[in-house]
Amino acid sequence: MAKKPIVEVDGLAKSFTHKGRAEQVLADISLRVEQGEIVSLLGQSGCGKSTLLNLIGGFTVPDKGTIHVGGEPVRRPRISCQMLFQDYGLLPWRTVRANVDLGLLSLQLNASERQERIRRYLALVGLEDKGDWFPHQLSGGMKQRVALARALALQPSVLLMDEPFAALDTFNRYYLQDELLRIQEAEGTTVILVTHDIDEAVYLSDKVLIMEANPGRICKELAIPFMKPRDRGDGNFQHYRKLILEAFRLTGVLPAEEYSI
Ligand SMILES: Nc1ncnc2c1ncn2[C@@H]1O[C@H](COP(=O)(O)OP(=O)(O)O)[C@@H](O)[C@H]1O
Ligand SMILES: [Mg+2]
Repeated sequence: MAKKPIVEVDGLAKSFTHKGRAEQVLADISLRVEQGEIVSLLGQSGCGKSTLLNLIGGFTVPDKGTIHVGGEPVRRPRISCQMLFQDYGLLPWRTVRANVDLGLLSLQLNASERQERIRRYLALVGLEDKGDWFPHQLSGGMKQRVALARALALQPSVLLMDEPFAALDTFNRYYLQDELLRIQEAEGTTVILVTHDIDEAVYLSDKVLIMEANPGRICKELAIPFMKPRDRGDGNFQHYRKLILEAFRLTGVLPAEEYSI
């Protein structure tokens, strides 16, 4: 793992106005993500995770504070920072290949370079033989793999993932988590992952940023240094899981007997 921060967020604040009243959604958010890391934003629904991810992606502007990606201030969405959503965002009338091609239109590539990119990234996600299929012919897990290929084909330095596996069943979710680890290692992409799933955060992350709500803040940062792939059943895994559960109890978010947030 490299040691250079690729994402730097300092003193970020964001409010939204609803029916004439300003609601502070994020307050005083600062964080660092190093190159090649997987960092999770973990917190209950409504604590501002998606808002923070949208700010880092340049889809929204902050009221206060600064965001730098790769040393550059973020002012608008950029190709080097790609977002992956829970609902896949595929165009149903385009084939798998044409969906992956969509993002590539914005790059200065000739036709054969584009075809090669599509081939390479469909192969990377294990869908090289599904290029002519349409989204409705694919399972949820396959659709998310197409979305991943489409994002990675742009060769971003940072991948922002907003609860990307939340709509999948447990088996598909576990499978895609392993796929993400394999692909992330192969490509060296930095990943910021929004999740409300404690196990997912422990399984994937080098660092977990635990958020609390009203206004959304990072209340604890937990490094998870042990080797990947991780065994969900072993003591190390349970240790970090317990630390996270305790953090939520301490902040009053999680009733003592509950194991999911
Ligand atoms: N565009 C918007 N306009 C007004 N309020 C918003 C907007 N986006 C998010 N919010 C509010 O900000 C809060 C945090 O939302 P969000 O970032 O989606 O939380 P999370 O992803 O953690 O569930 C919520 O109360 C939500 O209603
Ligand atoms: Mg959200």
